[in-house]
Amino acid sequence: MPPAPWRGSLPRPRGRPFLVASDPVPTIRLVYSSAAAGGTTYSTLVDIMSQAHTRNMAQGITGILCYGSGQFLQALEGERAAVTALYHRIAVDRRHDDCQLMSVDEIESRAFPEWTMKVVNWEDGDMARRRTMLQADTGSEVFTPSAMTATQASAFLMHLAELERELAGD
Ligand SMILES: Cc1cc2nc3c(=O)[nH]c(=O)nc-3n(C[C@H](O)[C@H](O)[C@H](O)COP(=O)(O)O)c2cc1C
Repeated sequence: MPPAPWRGSLPRPRGRPFLVASDPVPTIRLVYSSAAAGGTTYSTLVDIMSQAHTRNMAQGITGILCYGSGQFLQALEGERAAVTALYHRIAVDRRHDDCQLMSVDEIESRAFPEWTMKVVNWEDGDMARRRTMLQADTGSEVFTPSAMTATQASAFLMHLAELERELAGD
């Protein structure tokens, strides 16, 4: 059996999805929100992610993580066992607290296939477009993931990803 696409050693060609073929089943998407612990800043997150990308790639995890106003909203996609194990590690990480599980869905295809974890700093970007999008998706212009419904959070992350792809010219 050929190796799963994400285990290959070749870099992803620019603009091509990280995962193309249908994933082994069952594949899930998990979304949660949390609050940064005292002392955790965007730069802490950048440090966390320097290791997380490698780990996620090895585990076939893709997703997006938005940080803003001291809060996180993250979507993890991948094989159910891998996503579950990662979420258990994340949930006990002392660099954040108040982890709230918003949704777990079995999925047929990934929404963020090209990213081992896209990190978005909410406060650094095209704020006019971002606020309009947030308002349309959640009814508020303030990034407050803990107040979002699961449906709002998913819609918001999908639209945020679209905006990021557009800005990157993908
Ligand atoms: C908001 C947040 C998001 C994180 N996202 C990931 C991630 O996507 N992948 C990952 O491997 N670790 C992530 N981590 C780090 C994990 O919590 C954990 O420290 C890491 O997986 C190493 O686990 P271990 O020390 O138990 O081996 C995240 C941590 C925080 C606070």
